[in-house]
Amino acid sequence: MDVHDVKLTISAVAAAQYPTDGRPEIAFLGRSNVGKSSLINKLIKRKAMARTSSVPGKTQTLNFYDLDSRLFFVDVPGYGYAKVSKAARAKFATMIETYLTTRQPLHGAVLLVDSRHDPTADDISMYQYLKYYQIKTLVVATKIDKTPKSKRLHVVKQITKRMDLNQTDVVIPFSAVTGEGYDAIWSWLEQTAGV
Ligand code: GTP
Ligand code: MG
Repeated sequence: MDVHDVKLTISAVAAAQYPTDGRPEIAFLGRSNVGKSSLINKLIKRKAMARTSSVPGKTQTLNFYDLDSRLFFVDVPGYGYAKVSKAARAKFATMIETYLTTRQPLHGAVLLVDSRHDPTADDISMYQYLKYYQIKTLVVATKIDKTPKSKRLHVVKQITKRMDLNQTDVVIPFSAVTGEGYDAIWSWLEQTAGV
C-alpha cells in the first residue's frame, strides 16, 4: 500500500477512546525498545511520526495511526521493561489485554523480537496469547543490521524453534536502518488487513 496521509487519531488509554469507524487495524507488539515505533515510521515513510527513543518505555498509550483513512496501525506500549513500576506495568498489561481480546477491527498483530537475543519468556507468552485468541501473527526479527548476513538464516530458525511457531506463521528479518524486510512486511499487512 502506498501511504500518502498519516494522522495520529488518538492516544488511547481506555476502550471508550478507540476509533469507531470499524476500519481494519494491525497492532505492533513487543518488548520495550525492540523497535516498534521505528518499524511503524519506516512502513509509513515518516522519520518521527511515531516517537522513538533509546530509553525503553517511550510509548505509554495505544497510539492509533490512520493511514489514508483505510487502515489503522496501533503502536502498543512495550512489555518487559524492569524500570517501569509494577503498578504501571499492570496498567499496561490490562490495557493491552483489553484491546487484544475485545477489539473487533483487529485483523492481525506484528510481534517484534530482537534478532540479537533469544526470544524472552515474555515474547513466548505473548505469542501463545495471540494464538490462544486466534489473532493472525507476523513475527518480525528487528535490528537485523546488527547480525552478520551469514548468521541471519540461523537467527530466523532459532526464533522459529524457541517460540514454537505454527507452520503458518513466518519470521521476517527487518532493519529500520537499511529497510530490509520492508516489502515482505507490507505484503503480509496488505493480505492480512485486506487493503
Ligand atoms: P518503546 O516505545 O519504549 O516500547 O520502544 P519501541 O519498541 O517503540 O522502540 P523504538 O522504535 O523507540 O526503538 C528503540 C531504539 O532502538 C531506538 O534507539 C532506535 O533507534 C533503535 N532501533 C530500532 N530499530 C532498529 C533497527 O532496525 N536497527 C538498529 N540498529 N537500531 C534500531
Ligand atoms: Mg515505541
